Amino acid sequence: MAAAQTSSVGGKTRVAILISGRGSNMASLIAAAEAPDYPAEILLVASNRPEAPGLTYAAERGIPTRALDHRAYSSREAFDAALNAELEAAGIDLVCLAGFMRIFTAGFVETWAGRMINIHPSLLPLFKGVHTHEQALAAGVRLHGCTVHYVVPELDAGPIIAQGAVPVRPGDDSDALAARILVQEHRLYPQALALVAGGKARLDGARVVFSEEVPEVEGALLSL
Ligand code: GRF
Repeated sequence: MAAAQTSSVGGKTRVAILISGRGSNMASLIAAAEAPDYPAEILLVASNRPEAPGLTYAAERGIPTRALDHRAYSSREAFDAALNAELEAAGIDLVCLAGFMRIFTAGFVETWAGRMINIHPSLLPLFKGVHTHEQALAAGVRLHGCTVHYVVPELDAGPIIAQGAVPVRPGDDSDALAARILVQEHRLYPQALALVAGGKARLDGARVVFSEEVPEVEGALLSL
């Protein structure tokens, strides 16, 4: 796969965030990008669900938003083409999926290969798909977490950029676990985006390579 790479050379990486709902990870990226030295700027937030609360949040902060209701499109291909047109019109370099609950066509993923990343609420390759916290509790793992990875056609299988882990505590239910992990997600995703947008992490075949030693971050359980 000839993956196009993103880089901050010559300016900030132009980012679009795709959401389907709440948008708390989106909010963490928007907040991080307000720092003058952050290597990415958020130029578009788009959702396949017009009612997504995250759209309102982004619009209130002056970020252009688009609602593309997937039910209005005759096929997956038609929806992906419309979305791609919005991304191209905005001059987007890099797409961040943040709770975007829709599968792309292989063509869309290929178009954005090496330029689309996602956050998933588990320590991949464990617990792909949905209901990850229930999966973790059923498996009895003592550590659970979140992963930022490049998007490839196979669901939740792309090269890993960064991971954050949390303990699973006795008595946890899926809500308690989800809340503990969400705190890590909000720390991890902005730092992972900075690595990619700043050209410090990039795809090399099926793996991510880092151009310099990635600094330790506060909390030994976060691995960037
Ligand atoms: C997060 O747990 C994310 O990891 C998963 O979907 C959830 C989205 O939450 N992909 P939010 O919309 O960012 O609040």
